[in-house]
Amino acid sequence: MEVFEAISTRKSIRKYKNNEVEDEKLERILESARLAPSAKNKQKWKFLVVKNDKTRLKLAEAAYNQKFVEEAPVTIVACATNSEYIMPCGQYAYTVDVSIAVSFMILEATELGLGTCWLGAFNENTVKEILDIPEYIRVVAMFTLGYAAEEGSIKTSRKNIEDVVCFEKYE
Ligand SMILES: Cc1cc2nc3c(=O)[nH]c(=O)nc-3n(C[C@H](O)[C@H](O)[C@H](O)COP(=O)(O)O)c2cc1C
Repeated sequence: MEVFEAISTRKSIRKYKNNEVEDEKLERILESARLAPSAKNKQKWKFLVVKNDKTRLKLAEAAYNQKFVEEAPVTIVACATNSEYIMPCGQYAYTVDVSIAVSFMILEATELGLGTCWLGAFNENTVKEILDIPEYIRVVAMFTLGYAAEEGSIKTSRKNIEDVVCFEKYE
């Protein structure tokens, strides 16, 4: 699968089959995060893989009862191990770095025939308590991973290219 095919076929999946995710596939997905770019190549991140049933149930509750979090065989919790560095452009590096790594993982998962759903709706403190994550660590994102039991919604809801792109000067 080419990168653009993964980009254009990926959809958020909120229904999962019981099948486990094969270790080789999980390793490839995590390797995609390891190889992702980061500001100054600092790689201040940690990716926590959760498969345990009871922990997934707790994570679903921490994600404001999004039931599919319990259903998916794997949730990956993407953490920043330093959240202080501000880039010369004025943006915090950690949210950008970790989001790139998560995007790479999600695209690799798509290539491997797996479904994912990015999670931003969760209570960070509750997630940290459940997973023994130290206070200074930030949980930037989580995503569910597993074999899809639904098609996902078709991409009808994207803005037109001319509404989101301009050339040479801001319009
Ligand atoms: C930063 C971010 C946070 C999101 N949080 C959630 C979430 O908590 N729960 C959920 O069901 N979907 C969540 N989504 C998925 C979006 O709703 C979804 O990507 C969007 O509706 C477009 O649909 P698609 O992914 O199928 O193309 C999130 C996506 C992003 C990028």
